[in-house]
Amino acid sequence: MQCRSVNELQKLVDDAKKYTSTGKVADYIPALKNANKDSLSIALFYPNGNCYSAGDVTENLTLQSISKVLALALALMDRGQEYVFDRVGQEPTGDPFNSIAKLETSVPSKPLNPMINAGALAVTHMIKGDSVEERFERLVKFIRRLSGNISLGYNKDVAMSEFKTTDLNRSLCYFLKQHHIINEDVEQLMDLYTKQCSIEMNCLDLARIGCVFALDGKDPISEEQLIPHHVARICKTFMVTCGMYNASGEFAIKVGIPAKSGVSGGIMGAVPGRFGIGIYGPALDEKGNSVAGIELLKMMSEKYSLSMF
Ligand code: DON
Repeated sequence: MQCRSVNELQKLVDDAKKYTSTGKVADYIPALKNANKDSLSIALFYPNGNCYSAGDVTENLTLQSISKVLALALALMDRGQEYVFDRVGQEPTGDPFNSIAKLETSVPSKPLNPMINAGALAVTHMIKGDSVEERFERLVKFIRRLSGNISLGYNKDVAMSEFKTTDLNRSLCYFLKQHHIINEDVEQLMDLYTKQCSIEMNCLDLARIGCVFALDGKDPISEEQLIPHHVARICKTFMVTCGMYNASGEFAIKVGIPAKSGVSGGIMGAVPGRFGIGIYGPALDEKGNSVAGIELLKMMSEKYSLSMF
């Protein structure tokens, strides 16, 4: 069954919105503190170009960890699977996204997957280009093509705010450098990574990117293969196994679609072969996922039989 009207979607948003009061806006990146805790919006993007939305979908969000999937797609296109997975693993951790613990205990000493911060930093390091500017520009151009929004950019205040305060990510980078997973200047990588996390868009853009993944890498409008099929498949698999961090197992049972969250409160979902989802709800649960966004997806999964399992 498909969503048939905006009213139907709005009703689900109204029901899920009550959960915003149980969450908290991320504050470890100071600039994210200003988000409106009560917001909740969603857009659905269909392969025929139709779009349904509810809530204030024009509100911008920064991608944060959602960018990890997009950087992974570009790194796989730049370097190939063997190179990438020699340096980053393919297994879930069961730990919080910024944990350093498993880096020390896993053998060989490489990050367990590209969705935790340590793995994402290693992946961002792999994006090709002669300078931070060129690597960032390549990533932004790629994301502009996926979203069909040629004016996408990044939020300088959020990037700077994270750059100034992100000592835990710096420490992950130094660990990775010591173990020869990365070999660039840490400040330079932090500059690129914090800009990547601050790429800004709204739920409509996010839903359209979700739709590209739902279509195994094809642009819904032009039908151009923007991401090779096997790369889209790898990204979607990581979204299922690690996309919601250490809540991914429960999310797979209760919702059952590839999805990726970010601490800004964004969630990008891809319902295979059917449609893309973009959600923005800044109040987070204790694992860093949008609390009302997850409730909304649970309701939708039941109503529209979204689970792929
Ligand atoms: O590196 C960080 O901590 C943030 N820029 C991104 C983390 C994040 O979005 C985790 N999400 N749930």
